[in-house]
Amino acid sequence: MPVILAIESSCDETSAAICADGKILSNVIANQTIHEAYGGVVPELASRVHQQNIVPAVQQALFNAKVSKNDIDAVAFTRGPGLLGSLLVGVSFAKAFALAKNIPLIEVNHMQAHVLAHFIGDQNPAFPFLCLTVSGGHTQIVLVNDYFDMEIVGQTLDDAAGEAMDKTSKILGLPYPGGPLIDKYARMGNPNAYAFPEPQIPGFDFSFSGLKTSILYFIRDNVAKNPDFIAQNLNDICASVESRIASILLNKLRKVAVQYGIKDVALAGGVSANTGLRLGLQELGAQMGWRTFIPKMEYCTDNAAMIGIAGYYKYLKKDFVGQDVAPLARMPF
Ligand code: KG4
Ligand code: ZN
Repeated sequence: MPVILAIESSCDETSAAICADGKILSNVIANQTIHEAYGGVVPELASRVHQQNIVPAVQQALFNAKVSKNDIDAVAFTRGPGLLGSLLVGVSFAKAFALAKNIPLIEVNHMQAHVLAHFIGDQNPAFPFLCLTVSGGHTQIVLVNDYFDMEIVGQTLDDAAGEAMDKTSKILGLPYPGGPLIDKYARMGNPNAYAFPEPQIPGFDFSFSGLKTSILYFIRDNVAKNPDFIAQNLNDICASVESRIASILLNKLRKVAVQYGIKDVALAGGVSANTGLRLGLQELGAQMGWRTFIPKMEYCTDNAAMIGIAGYYKYLKKDFVGQDVAPLARMPF
């Protein structure tokens, strides 16, 4: 009955969670708002804020779970991929805690953890299943054969889906991070108002850079004719962009599911918080006879609960690492 302290610090969220025997007792997420002023995450600032937030986040996670430091049996942490300076804070904290308490350390791959978030709670997909992992840095269709046996069958050749959301919002003059704002305005708009192109990429890979350019030119040309174009049509623009990004993602997902004959299909990563994509997957799943799995909102964006659940399955295998472990900005599965 391991009680695991889990730490996530790969980008701009400092998060700590307590996972007891595979159940999440607490999940504290400290968001960093400092980056808004810069229109994107500033790595140097992110690591400094992690440094300030990490101890209070852990204390709050222990308090919320009604668990004492002495009850912790192991520490799980994100080793990568992510911003190196940010990862260093979480890795150093995890190592120090484990050293002080003389307990094992468990390294977790952040992208695997996004997938394993589907094992929080009772509604779990059955192996093998597909997971579309869409975040600010990644867009992957993952074939999940087992907890730690995953294969990327399709991925982006350029921008990530979240990046496409964030860059579009920047073009529209919206603050960072733009994904949630595009979602908000899209709810009030017509997704068929403007037809943005779907890239023709062979196989299961994605590309979003052409879409970004076409949005840029579309806005530039219309604003030249009417300076109030964005303000007058914001809801329709957001709805049309969101709908195109969702259709690009879901069309590839359908292709892969058909090719591999898979009926359990899941969504993960920050962009899985997107309403249009969530609804789109449910609709497609109903058409295709799939069981679909969409994480709760708090487990979509970066969080330590997913590190805790991944850590739990590694604990069962006694898959521990030594104190010489170092973070990895790039970390393959
Ligand atoms: O997984 P995540 O929290 O961090 C990374 O590992 O990148 O994903 C962040 C991304 C950002 O691009 C953000 O704009 C996007 O997820 N995002 C959304 C929504 N919420 C977050 N995109 C569209 N609609 C949302 N509701
Ligand atoms: Zn993430």
